[in-house]
Amino acid sequence: MQTPSGHPVAPAPGARLVVLASGGGSNLAALLAAHDDGAYGARVVGVVSDKPAAGALDLARDAGVASVVVAPGDFDDRAAWNVGLADAVDVFRPDWVVLAGFMRILAPSFLTRFPGRVVNTHPALLPSFPGAHGVRDALTYGVRVTGCTVHVVDDGVDTGPIIAQATVPVLDDDDESSLHERIKVAERALLVETVGRVAREGLRVDGRRALVG
Ligand code: GRF
Repeated sequence: MQTPSGHPVAPAPGARLVVLASGGGSNLAALLAAHDDGAYGARVVGVVSDKPAAGALDLARDAGVASVVVAPGDFDDRAAWNVGLADAVDVFRPDWVVLAGFMRILAPSFLTRFPGRVVNTHPALLPSFPGAHGVRDALTYGVRVTGCTVHVVDDGVDTGPIIAQATVPVLDDDDESSLHERIKVAERALLVETVGRVAREGLRVDGRRALVG
């Protein structure tokens, strides 16, 4: 099997994870640190980014994981990009698609290719503060506790059934950056734990409730 860029994809024990990331990739790094343990039950088999300069691509290369860039600018329109992105992800035959700092909205045409198998991490306690500025919006609102959420992706913006959440206190002297850094510590742990449980035990979605096992 070859990725679109020609990298071989090694056979992987456990569930096959494809991680989509736009940024530095600290959440990806946490998954990569976990996946070598056979007991984890899941392995990152591919990384896909919308940004050629994403640090996540360097992390993938350093870990020997195949990666591919699917940039919107290389497609005629958003619909064509969603199809191209789904095709690129599908090459890796994922059991689960993990959005780890992937800063694009996915169309139903993408999600129907991997039904109920796309999960996202968000740096706020949903349903509060969805969207691209969840940390800033929580700080501006003045909440004393925020956190992070791992949820199933549906065709809304951060609206899918919630699998797991962790809380992070807001400190008096926090700015967006300091708060986001503390959230990211909790987020990495929650993502690794939740993806591992989902991969090992499965996931049932019953209306708004997402239940592991
Ligand atoms: C995470 O907080 C993610 O939830 C948000 O952006 C951050 C990405 O961090 N959307 P990284 O690229 O995984 O370091």
